[in-house]
Amino acid sequence: MKHTITLIPGDGIGPEVTEAAVRVVEAAGVECEWERMEAGAEVVAKYGTPVPDEVIHSILKNRVALKGPITTPVGVGFPSANVTLRKRLNLYANVRPARTIPGVPSRYDHVDLVIIRENSEDLYSGLEHIVVPGVVESLKIITEAASLRIGRYAFEYAKSHGRRKVTAVHKANIMKLADGLFLECLRRISREFPEIEYEEMIVDATCMNMVMRPERFDVMVMENLYGDILSDLASGLIGGLGFAGSANIGEGGIALFEAVHGSAPDIAGRHIANPIALILSAVMMLRHLGEQAAANRIENAVMKVMAEGKVRTRDMGGDATTDQITDAIIAAL
Ligand code: NAI
Ligand code: MG
Repeated sequence: MKHTITLIPGDGIGPEVTEAAVRVVEAAGVECEWERMEAGAEVVAKYGTPVPDEVIHSILKNRVALKGPITTPVGVGFPSANVTLRKRLNLYANVRPARTIPGVPSRYDHVDLVIIRENSEDLYSGLEHIVVPGVVESLKIITEAASLRIGRYAFEYAKSHGRRKVTAVHKANIMKLADGLFLECLRRISREFPEIEYEEMIVDATCMNMVMRPERFDVMVMENLYGDILSDLASGLIGGLGFAGSANIGEGGIALFEAVHGSAPDIAGRHIANPIALILSAVMMLRHLGEQAAANRIENAVMKVMAEGKVRTRDMGGDATTDQITDAIIAAL
């Protein structure tokens, strides 16, 4: 079956790593028609928004997208294209696995955790204002509906993926109302899944435990901001941002796949970015599309190239280019 997929190359290293992922998917024999769409700084001048309507329409039509990172200006300028996409498409669940890949330089050997990040609210609601000069209010929104929805997603994910434990990460000792509501919702959902172990952990202690003993974690569910921060931390447990893929899942099965990392302006345009994070995001996309065989082939090819250790990009201490590592993965298919 031929799949029509919205492809957003993004900016910075985005076009380099999306090209690599497209090549690998096609080499694995998956028939795809890529609908290429622009979003980000380039289109703001023309459309007045980083995410033109035609991008949204394309994803709504195709139900699936693969996306490169998009730069967001710090402090000033247009709102994040990423947050805009997640909001407009109602992509409420952000699934971010971090799993040890043998052969990838890292301090740990047995990490296999999945962060389920609530993707629609919290401090990312964009509700900020100047109260008086020198005083700013930034609103953290937590709702029962979104907390129950992400809690259910996390437990159903754990169940359908044969996982045993869900850890709810929070700061309800300080944000008694906001994080208190989030926790209360998670407790309610946990009672519906007696076969899955449920625990709660305060976010700062979670950071320490992830660094000390990351093997103890299985599925972790948390609000938007904690999920953003802890998923970069999780990528650091398995060799860095070059290895962390993700899925943004919406209601009705709409899904957008992207790497956890950003546009890496420090290395953009030099063809040295590690494309594996986006390739693993494409693997998640293929599983979502029912292309299990191709997904497994690509994943195994990545594992093989990493285990051999001969072709490594700069983040792994090597000097291979994006193209060279992509070629090696294609050769290993
Ligand atoms: P970043 O993730 O782009 O880079 C952090 C560090 O990791 C840099 O040293 C970079 O070179 C390295 N790195 C990241 N991906 C890599 C890869 N595939 N291979 C090798 N090294 C890699 O984070 P940063 O610099 O904080 O953000 C840059 C821009 O990206 C910002 O404008 C930010 O808003 C945006 N961003 C976009 C995201 C998205 O589109 N979903 C997600 C995160 C950030
Ligand atoms: Mg992030």
